[in-house]
Amino acid sequence: MIQVAPSILAADFLHLEKDVQTVNRHADIFHLDIMDGSFVPNISFGFPVVEAIASQAQKPMDVHLMIVHPEKYIPRFAQVGAAMISFHYEAALEASAALLDLIHENGARAGIVINPDCPVEKIFPYLDQADYVLLMSVFAGFGGQKFIPETLDRIRAVRKELRRRDREAVDIEVDGGISPANAGELARSGATILVAGSAVFRAEDPSEVIRQMKQA
Ligand code: DX5
Ligand code: ZN
Repeated sequence: MIQVAPSILAADFLHLEKDVQTVNRHADIFHLDIMDGSFVPNISFGFPVVEAIASQAQKPMDVHLMIVHPEKYIPRFAQVGAAMISFHYEAALEASAALLDLIHENGARAGIVINPDCPVEKIFPYLDQADYVLLMSVFAGFGGQKFIPETLDRIRAVRKELRRRDREAVDIEVDGGISPANAGELARSGATILVAGSAVFRAEDPSEVIRQMKQA
């Protein structure tokens, strides 16, 4: 069963409550992109916005950390209600195992993220510990980019390794340039959580886009 996680980065920040209700009614997960202007060349939003969403959210909040020193902020994101927290392998390297532990100690599901140019094998050592893997299908930093088709092979490679390890319950989340047009092939390749920002919030009818992606 595919889960759809609209990315709040593409929401209308002047009418955030309206877009939060869209997720509450039709989607599965709130995807929240946290960018620090250092790990990625962009700054998104921080705790006040996450807390405001938390006060209304009826679906789990998935915090995607695109920041250096994720260890500094993981406890605080858990405190404000994140049910899922992921960090970039590229920002953590050999500290990744300790960070997955830290997320678990703080009561959240733990995810590890890689950009499209990072070999998938780099995260294989963490597949017994992670609850989900987030494969970027664009380079982290901005919404509205074009889907990188090589992502499909990367999903298949991670899914195959999860099967080999008897870890099929681990979710594969994919993020960037996702819409009803590619949702089907992503699902067939082994993805289980689809993040979509522009495709959902820039649509005439966001609920219909979510419905199409879930059926893909
Ligand atoms: C990019 C973010 C994505 C982004 C996706 O760094 O991680 O979550 O919001 O946006 P779309 O769906 O517009 O590519
Ligand atoms: Zn994201």
